Amino acid sequence: MAKLETRGLHFSYTAEKKVLNGIDLILEGPPTAIVGQNGAGKTTFVKVLKGLLRPSKGSVYFNGEDIKDQTVAQLSRHIGLIFQNPNDQIFKNRVLDEVMFGPSNIGASRDDARDQAMAALERLGLEDEADANPYDLSLSERKLIAVASILAMDPDVLIFDEPTMGQDFEGKDLLKQIIREEHARGKLILCILHDMDFAADVFDRTIVFNQGNVLLDGPTREVFSQKDILESAFLEQPSPTQIARVLGLDGCYLTDAELIAALKN
Ligand SMILES: Nc1ncnc2c1ncn2[C@@H]1O[C@H](COP(=O)(O)OP(=O)(O)O)[C@@H](O)[C@H]1O
Ligand SMILES: [Mg+2]
Repeated sequence: MAKLETRGLHFSYTAEKKVLNGIDLILEGPPTAIVGQNGAGKTTFVKVLKGLLRPSKGSVYFNGEDIKDQTVAQLSRHIGLIFQNPNDQIFKNRVLDEVMFGPSNIGASRDDARDQAMAALERLGLEDEADANPYDLSLSERKLIAVASILAMDPDVLIFDEPTMGQDFEGKDLLKQIIREEHARGKLILCILHDMDFAADVFDRTIVFNQGNVLLDGPTREVFSQKDILESAFLEQPSPTQIARVLGLDGCYLTDAELIAALKN
């Protein structure tokens, strides 16, 4: 499985403000959520992982090799990033062309690119929209098209930036399924989230960013047990845990099912 590692990673957009303040992380194995207040540096961090921004100090290693010697084009074959705002990613005026662009760009034949694009659209339930203009679709559908575009390239690492934003229950369920399937296929999954319930439900490891630093990192249950530290970073515990507390139950509950099981006992 793919492995990303950062050592002493610093990044600033301007001289006045440090955005990443020395991040040391090894990312491999279980699906991992990255959470943190707006402005904590999450999006910047994943852009540095993908080589779109270059660190001001420190390094990123992909499968043990410093990515500084690789171009964004070389990395894009291995590391797929689904942007927070699909409008920053989508640029074609036909869904199929948009989703075919990635595989074509990394050397797939036209037929293969088409097959990979259609397969990705089918996984997201969007095969009937292949001829549509992305801008005639809703924002939540455009977000799923952005996911399809990256899936069609079959990268080793899939990074999602706030994929659940604007998704209803069905959309979230679909994303959960895709994340689990891609993990089972051996992909490294990183996912920036503002939705603590989705993080608690789907991810085995959770990393909390705060002001360009890693505040917490560990198994999701351990991280979400740290109520006071989370609050210091303006984050809440997952809602099953909050409901449990109101009902007089101690402990950290990651899903409704866990809470219901505890209530039955
Ligand atoms: N292109 C940019 N130019 C200057 N500052 C930026 C730019 N993008 C982000 N920032 C600043 O960097 C900080 C971290 O932003 P970001 O990585 O987007 O955080 P997050 O994704 O956690 O909300 C914020 O203070 C933000 O205002
Ligand atoms: Mg962001």
